[in-house]
Amino acid sequence: MVMQGSLKPLGVLVSGYGSNLQAILDACAQGVVAGRVACVISSNARAFAGERAKNAGVPYYVLPNATPEERDAHITALLKKHDVQGVCLAGYMRLLTAGFVDTWWDRVFNIHPSLLPAFKGMNAQRQALSAGVKVTGCTVHFVRPAMDEGPIILQATTPVFADDTEDTLAQRLLPLEHRTYVQALKWYCDDRLRIQGERVFVIPAAEAKS
Ligand code: GAR
Repeated sequence: MVMQGSLKPLGVLVSGYGSNLQAILDACAQGVVAGRVACVISSNARAFAGERAKNAGVPYYVLPNATPEERDAHITALLKKHDVQGVCLAGYMRLLTAGFVDTWWDRVFNIHPSLLPAFKGMNAQRQALSAGVKVTGCTVHFVRPAMDEGPIILQATTPVFADDTEDTLAQRLLPLEHRTYVQALKWYCDDRLRIQGERVFVIPAAEAKS
């Protein structure tokens, strides 16, 4: 049995629908990830992700309008209040300041709907279709100050079909994102991730415990 005290407190930053948040909430509740969502912070008062947080009984905060520096200081204060040890960007559509990334170095994760380093930024699915790639996917990575950059933990792929639209591609990617994010967070919460330069290694479970 996993004791509550040994669960890593996670903070999740959202802006929209929150399906990745839901996958993280479910994986924690089911004991798949040895973590617990300690708080959810949104940049958007209308985000459906807020309903998900409330339904799960998790403290939920909407960020005030502020400068990026003020906003990120506010996020850090909330994360510290909840003793957060890992910060998950889950469809969070604001660029974090370098100061924030520095404070939480090697403890911030992002999910992106492309095979990074291809198609950074907004509308990754549209970019993939425009580029004519036949395979795309999703990436979970540690966050660095530049957008959608940082050591890659895990990726998953899907074919791009001739009749795909931005929407069909996005819908097919989401379940892949959920599985990939949950797996990466499972490794993190089990202390199994090691970063060397740009590469991330998953160490055997037995080694992590010793
Ligand atoms: C997901 O596809 C996520 O990868 C993407 O926003 C969507 C959020 O969905 N994030 C980015 O593009 C970040 N660069 P969700 O709110 O249902 O989790």
